[in-house]
Amino acid sequence: MRHLVRCRVFRSDICSLLFARSKLLLPTHCEVKTPRFGICATNLRMEKNNSDEQHQQSVEQTTTIKFKPEVNRVQGILDSDPSVGWEKCWEEGLTPWDLGQPTPILIQLHETGSLPKGRALVPGCGSGYDVVAIACPDRYVVGLDISEKAIKKAEQLSSLLPNANYFTFIREDFFSWRPPKLFDLIFDYTFFCAIEPQMRSDWARQVRDLLKPDGELITLIFPISDHVGGPPYKVSVANYEEVLHPMGFKAVSIANNELAVGARKGREKLGRWKRFQSQSSL
Ligand SMILES: C[S@@+](CC[C@H](N)C(=O)[O-])C[C@H]1O[C@@H](n2cnc3c(N)ncnc32)[C@H](O)[C@@H]1O
Repeated sequence: MRHLVRCRVFRSDICSLLFARSKLLLPTHCEVKTPRFGICATNLRMEKNNSDEQHQQSVEQTTTIKFKPEVNRVQGILDSDPSVGWEKCWEEGLTPWDLGQPTPILIQLHETGSLPKGRALVPGCGSGYDVVAIACPDRYVVGLDISEKAIKKAEQLSSLLPNANYFTFIREDFFSWRPPKLFDLIFDYTFFCAIEPQMRSDWARQVRDLLKPDGELITLIFPISDHVGGPPYKVSVANYEEVLHPMGFKAVSIANNELAVGARKGREKLGRWKRFQSQSSL
């Protein structure tokens, strides 16, 4: 079974601002460089739901996604040899999905105490910015990636950080990994959209199996668009529901991510999911 995922849409500089705004290296007043992206959002409109203006909903109309040359090269590598495609991309420095910083909404959730404590997992963690950003004495975070090079990079970037005791990086295939302990939180960003759609049920099953029964799944639902093909494949809230509902997950909240970066704005929602086991009436 092919567990590897491919990606071809993202592009950013690998910014040297390590973990900016995570309070680890930079004071909170520091400006964080906004990275560039491999997608050009076009014709995206935000419309109000006339029936209830307080509950605005985004209507994504679009979408012509323009691919940068790096994106095409990533896809070519992944297409030619999927089994080692990710590793090759990392070796060649072709990581156009990489924001070069933690995603701002995650920092906000962390700083406002809105994330579960305990053990957290970030599958497909890449350079590990999101891992490091939420690691603290109350939360031990595991960053997992199938690429050895990605894991090495994440370790190099983070080993001297003051919170280094509260996270670790491991090289594993998410779909076959069997950890010794379960998690209180799984955070997925740009992993679900990168896996091939037929893998999504396996993704949901593994999320269920890795989370404690009362654990929480947080997804950044991206890219919300109507483009054809992938990766990254287009995603919608319904795509998540389709695979998560059979595993007992329900959305606790779905909200537009107003802190999405650059061209991702308007294409990204924050989804928070928990399992609700059916209760016996006996
Ligand atoms: C699109 S990138 C996203 C990286 C990171 N989440 C980010 O936002 O920068 C997808 C990542 O998933 C990793 N990956 C691909 N297949 C995987 C698998 N089966 N198990 C674990 N990681 C995988 C790749 O090496 C890559 O780093």
